[in-house]
Amino acid sequence: MPGKPKYYLTTPIYYTNGLPHIGHTYSTIVCDTVRRYKRMRGYDVVMTTGTDEHGVNVERSAKKAGVPESEFVAKMAAEWRALWDELGVQGDEFIRTTDLKHAHTVQWLFKLCRENDFVYPGHYTGQYCIYDNAYVDVKPGENCPDCGRPTETVTEANFYFKLSAFQKPLLDWYAKHPDFIQPEARRNEVLSFVEGGLRDLSITRTTVRWGIPVPGEEPHVFYVWYDALTAYLSAVGGPNYEKIGYWPADVHLVGKEIIRFHAVYWPAFLMAAGLPLPKQIWAHGWLLMDSAKMSKSLGNVVRPRPIVHVLGMDALRYYLLRETVFGQDGNFSYDALVQRYNSDLANGLGNLASRTAAMIEKNGGGKVPKPAALQPQDTALATQAQAAIGQVLELYDNLAFSRALEEIWSVIAATDKYLTTEHPWSLGENDADQQRRATILWTTAEVLRIVTALTHPVLPESTTKVWSLLGQPGQPGSIALDDLRWGQLAPGTPLGKSQTLFPRPSPVTTPAPPGTPTPAAGSTAAAAAAPQAAPEKIGIEDFTKVEMRVGQIKTAERIVGADKLLKLTVDIGTEIRQICAGIAQYYEPEKLIGRKVAVVVNLAPRKLRGVESNGMIVAASVGPEGRPVLAGFPDEDVEIGARLK
Ligand code: MSP
Repeated sequence: MPGKPKYYLTTPIYYTNGLPHIGHTYSTIVCDTVRRYKRMRGYDVVMTTGTDEHGVNVERSAKKAGVPESEFVAKMAAEWRALWDELGVQGDEFIRTTDLKHAHTVQWLFKLCRENDFVYPGHYTGQYCIYDNAYVDVKPGENCPDCGRPTETVTEANFYFKLSAFQKPLLDWYAKHPDFIQPEARRNEVLSFVEGGLRDLSITRTTVRWGIPVPGEEPHVFYVWYDALTAYLSAVGGPNYEKIGYWPADVHLVGKEIIRFHAVYWPAFLMAAGLPLPKQIWAHGWLLMDSAKMSKSLGNVVRPRPIVHVLGMDALRYYLLRETVFGQDGNFSYDALVQRYNSDLANGLGNLASRTAAMIEKNGGGKVPKPAALQPQDTALATQAQAAIGQVLELYDNLAFSRALEEIWSVIAATDKYLTTEHPWSLGENDADQQRRATILWTTAEVLRIVTALTHPVLPESTTKVWSLLGQPGQPGSIALDDLRWGQLAPGTPLGKSQTLFPRPSPVTTPAPPGTPTPAAGSTAAAAAAPQAAPEKIGIEDFTKVEMRVGQIKTAERIVGADKLLKLTVDIGTEIRQICAGIAQYYEPEKLIGRKVAVVVNLAPRKLRGVESNGMIVAASVGPEGRPVLAGFPDEDVEIGARLK
């Protein structure tokens, strides 16, 4: 894309000895949001993500799985990739450290460092943490100070990198580029680490087999961090980086625990090779579960897939960016996720969109009405929305996602209030009333257009629906945010087809009789039924009345004469239940056997087509026809009977 300024950003590349949890998801979603935002600001953006596939950890996991390492990592990399697709992540480059072009780049970087005399051979004995892939400063028998897991004593021949030679160049670099490490607290941490003195770093291993070979020095393979960091460069051309034109990176987004690798080792490797340094390293905090970092070893991980399957990808993206102050730690909670989904998405944006469309449908013949003279209350809303554009862009620029979303949602709240005070639905049919109604509806639709454009980087899926609902051309991703102004919504624009934005996840065991309307929040039908009332909220005490547990399907069969129903028997930990589910048109009975599902277990029994059903299976209702998609636990071996809360 000639002419546009280039912008290159990266996620960390993820270890393939495990599957993604929402901590990893957070890193990636942040990056994807920045990517989409920068595109809308006119940049030619490349975002790299990928997988870190070498090291003893992978060697062991592959052995445990009884497959060759290459097969193991290929499967895992495909899993990571698939998940990012489901989350709407638009990685431009997916780099795997087992890619040939990557191996060439690592070997080339090493050659440059060696030619410049920053590499020498030696021996090392120390305590090694295989989980963090690093030697740690503890005595034999002691655990890793970072992750708390056992360390191993390792002695090996290796090549050293003269990190000690870079103390002064690094300190000079930090002084000259005060924004290089963000946020401030991380910068201070790195500064004091480097000021405390740097020890040379062993960058090859002879005790590990599964790695990139050091040419002419076999059995040496590269240390995983030397290997992994270089992926940022191999993704954009490696030795040909100048020709490709994206290096140096504008920002490496990383979790706080890997800041040292990125802000100390990586710049030192690049300096040693005489290559340009990235412009910025930005460290985010952790997502905590009950105040502890999520990790497989602590058994407190939350997987993104079930959440996406039930609430949709936008819900997770919104929640993660809205609830966590970027740079600080945040706590993950299902309650807060559901609360945000209901209050901000279904009742907030979804409700505003569907009410607006329903009112225009009813009163404007499905076309954006032409506003008459604006009254002070219209102008006040217009001023707030216009001001929000500048504020939100500035907040996005500073990665202050939570504040940006807060700002946007205060415009949504102001619009809800405006509708309540202006109550266009109660105006009459005389000319003055019709003109007033047209002005209110145009103003509301214009707010919605601006909100949609501003929210798109975070909510790509639902904003695309609102965009077409508003009859706007193309995709919201192609809006130039720099040209976004109040007043651009053309009267007369025909609205597009309404679509459900944030459906309520619904149980599927009680199919409604044919013809019963089931308006979902956010649908035009729902809004038309009650244009001014936001759906009633429930307290947590109401939610906890519903007892949901993990169940496992033992048998499944069709019911003669009921083509939508399946009769299931489900193990819920304490007993086997018979449950009917309205999923027969979408699931083959045989394929359900053994599947773990979410079951509402404290429902009064009822008969469906004469067959007793004692509980409900939970599923998302997808698309206009309400296709059921079973909520489940595909990523984790959850215990049967475990309670969902
Ligand atoms: N492979 C290295 C990175 C190499 S980059 C050249 C690695 N991989 S990782 O899979 O362990 O972590 C990748 C990213 O996920 C890191 O940024 C890490 O901070 C992030 N997260 C892992 N758990 C996390 C949370 N609980 N919360 C937020 N992010 C966390 O490190």
